[in-house]
Amino acid sequence: MTKILLLGANGQVGWELHRCLMTIGEVIPTTRKEIDLANDQNIVDAISAIRPDLLINAAAYTAVEKAEDEPELANQVNGYALEAISQCAKKYHFPLIHYSTDYVFDGTKGEPYTEKDTPNPINAYGRSKLLGEQILQVSGVPYLIFRTSWIYGMRGKNFLLTMLKLAQECTEIKVVNDQYGIPTWSRFVAQVTADVLVRGIDDLNNYFESHAGVYHLTPSGATTWYEFAKAIFAVARHNLIQVLPISSDEYPTKAKRPKFSVLKPNFQKLYSGGDCLDWLAVVKLVIEA
Ligand SMILES: NC(=O)c1ccc[n+]([C@@H]2O[C@H](COP(=O)([O-])OP(=O)(O)OC[C@H]3O[C@@H](n4cnc5c(N)ncnc54)[C@H](OP(=O)(O)O)[C@@H]3O)[C@@H](O)[C@H]2O)c1
Repeated sequence: MTKILLLGANGQVGWELHRCLMTIGEVIPTTRKEIDLANDQNIVDAISAIRPDLLINAAAYTAVEKAEDEPELANQVNGYALEAISQCAKKYHFPLIHYSTDYVFDGTKGEPYTEKDTPNPINAYGRSKLLGEQILQVSGVPYLIFRTSWIYGMRGKNFLLTMLKLAQECTEIKVVNDQYGIPTWSRFVAQVTADVLVRGIDDLNNYFESHAGVYHLTPSGATTWYEFAKAIFAVARHNLIQVLPISSDEYPTKAKRPKFSVLKPNFQKLYSGGDCLDWLAVVKLVIEA
């Protein structure tokens, strides 16, 4: 059975991946306790002991605000750790799946970003994620990078759960209405990853070599945080809470956010049978389930 080493198994995407991959191979779920991406020696020792057939890296430093204060740690976890992982991948001949973000873009394009657009991150988190992409791309290891955006789900720390909590506590909230992106369900990312893997599982190295690249993995459409909040309250039937639109200037943050980081999904290149649902249809699925 294919031995799949999963990093970040307690994260939003990692937790869903663990469940989606169980039927595909022998999943070895790990958290920071077993493999700390801040520690290169720990990475090398742990991977050398496991010697997987495939490594899926769903671990990341995802605290966008905090990354402004500790960019070195963000760069290590999201960037340089990929160097250590890639060295192991080369030594033991296994391919990699890695996740990245819409925040590698500056948000000035004004239309959806394709995988061919040049990244230009405007915050420390985005720069650290781009570093990871670049290290992997020159490593010589067969890889798939899935860029995704605005991840939410029914566990972890995310916008949807924050809104549902606020609906219990507040009668009015203000939400930014001038940043555009695509809300993406964590399970959608995991399910597409699993569906892609099924297609390559019989000859992983060959499959990854012939499909290596960056893929945008989101539903279709686009929205703002304000419209996303309104959709959540409407679907969850929280009719009493008032949502007021504000500008980013009215909600100052340490980390700059791109104004328009909408990704153009292209994961269907790997996934011929798959539909790309609209983001709102997915939100309905998640809340009504
Ligand atoms: N969240 C989003 O909105 C978003 C948007 C675009 C792209 N992405 C990308 O999608 C992927 C999955 O994100 P997610 O939302 O599932 O993230 P998440 O819920 O924040 O999970 C990340 C996991 O990484 C672990 N981690 C952090 N530092 C680590 C370290 N030094 N060593 C090992 N593990 C460490 C965390 O463990 P602890 O809980 O112990 O910290 C956590 O379990 C990431 O590559 C992320 O950059 C996320």
